[in-house]
Amino acid sequence: MDKFAIVGPARISGQVKISGSKNSSLPILAATLLFNQPVRIKNLPKVKDINTMISLLKSLGSKVILSSDRRTAKIYNKKKLKTFASYSLVKTMRGSILVLGPLIAKYFKSKISLPGGCLIGARPINYHLDALQKLGMNYILKDGYILAKSKGKLKGTMIKFPKISVGATENTIIAACLAKGTTTLKNCAIEPEIKDLTNFLNSAGAKITWKGRICKIIGVNSLNQTDYSIMPDRIEAGTFCVAATVSRGNLDILNFDGRIIKTELDLLKKFGAKIKVNKKKISIKGPKNLKSIKNIKTKEYPGVSTDMQSQLMVLMCKANGKSSITENIFENRFMHVAELRRLGAKINVVKNRATIQGNTKFVGAELMSSDLRASVSLVLAAIASNGKSLINRIYHLDRGYENIENKLRKIGVKIKRLKK
Ligand code: EPZ
Repeated sequence: MDKFAIVGPARISGQVKISGSKNSSLPILAATLLFNQPVRIKNLPKVKDINTMISLLKSLGSKVILSSDRRTAKIYNKKKLKTFASYSLVKTMRGSILVLGPLIAKYFKSKISLPGGCLIGARPINYHLDALQKLGMNYILKDGYILAKSKGKLKGTMIKFPKISVGATENTIIAACLAKGTTTLKNCAIEPEIKDLTNFLNSAGAKITWKGRICKIIGVNSLNQTDYSIMPDRIEAGTFCVAATVSRGNLDILNFDGRIIKTELDLLKKFGAKIKVNKKKISIKGPKNLKSIKNIKTKEYPGVSTDMQSQLMVLMCKANGKSSITENIFENRFMHVAELRRLGAKINVVKNRATIQGNTKFVGAELMSSDLRASVSLVLAAIASNGKSLINRIYHLDRGYENIENKLRKIGVKIKRLKK
């Protein structure tokens, strides 16, 4: 298993180009199952989760031709695809559940493994199943699989999600595209990735409109050929902004509209960063001293993203004074705390709230990655540490950050991948 060796402290400076969004690519790739016509998806990030989703599409019978740089996929669906998604594939990437909506909408049946939980939480899919059931899907759970069927086409209806869920919103929008009649979804997630999915589907002739958290989908018979480029990854952009902030750095984030992460950038300004934003670039300068922020609470978009929580905690460790962060989305998303303590952080966790003492002088240590975003917070902390850190199990990082070591090296970080 590969490791990262990082020698800190480093001052980040220069420019970084953001890759395509993992969390936009996954639902869009899943949605290609709806198509009879060829679809070309561009600006895919070269990360493991995308490879997994492409393997899943191929296992279902899609023909996927990747460009030499693996950033563009041309996808052809034969008339009849398979509708079985195995545990071996689904267990490696929970986002696989997003193939359920398109398969049931197009082929009226699917046998797909339950995704199971992960380190950050139980990750149930009840909202997905309930919504698809309201559209006309019947299912039983047997031997760890969802055996789903529908009597012909799904039927449009009104559905109100009991809780805001990114995946359930995506699965249901995709399924509703081919339903008979109109579907109105209420209490939807409105993350930018869902708007990217909407733009992709509408570019192929779907009829999806939004009003706040209400999404209306008028079912169509089929979708047309389309060519679509994935939006840049807002969590990668946010992560690099934290890297500049924690290291008194000076960084330009290229090809990214900073307005999409206004909430997080406003927080970085409160920490003391100087930030200029336009629709093509973010220029960020980290402060000499980081101010503490009393309490940050993660919330659904446009609130503070849970996927930025662990990165923000690194800033709190270095800030002058006490801060706290409350994780409101997932029940176990503090896996990074024990590792940050190994670097010298003073953090106390009670239920879903972490209190951080601040003024930490991180000293390099050997660390263990856990989930994707916890792992990147260890990289950020190592950059701000005195001495060498060794980060184990960086396959977690490879799931969602493309070429992170080369991007970091180019902006001044002493980082090496040790292949085991
Ligand atoms: C998506 O996960 C993202 N993943 C996550 O990013 C992100 O953290 C999350 O949205 C929240 O923004 C992808 O887009 C591939 P949810 P998702 O459904 O869809 C509960 C990363 O690091 N819930 O919005 O699974 C759930 O347990 C990943 O890139 C149910 O109870 O998130 C959670 O507590 C991590 N029943 C909350 O809702 C359901 O049926 C929000 O989950 C569905 C969700």
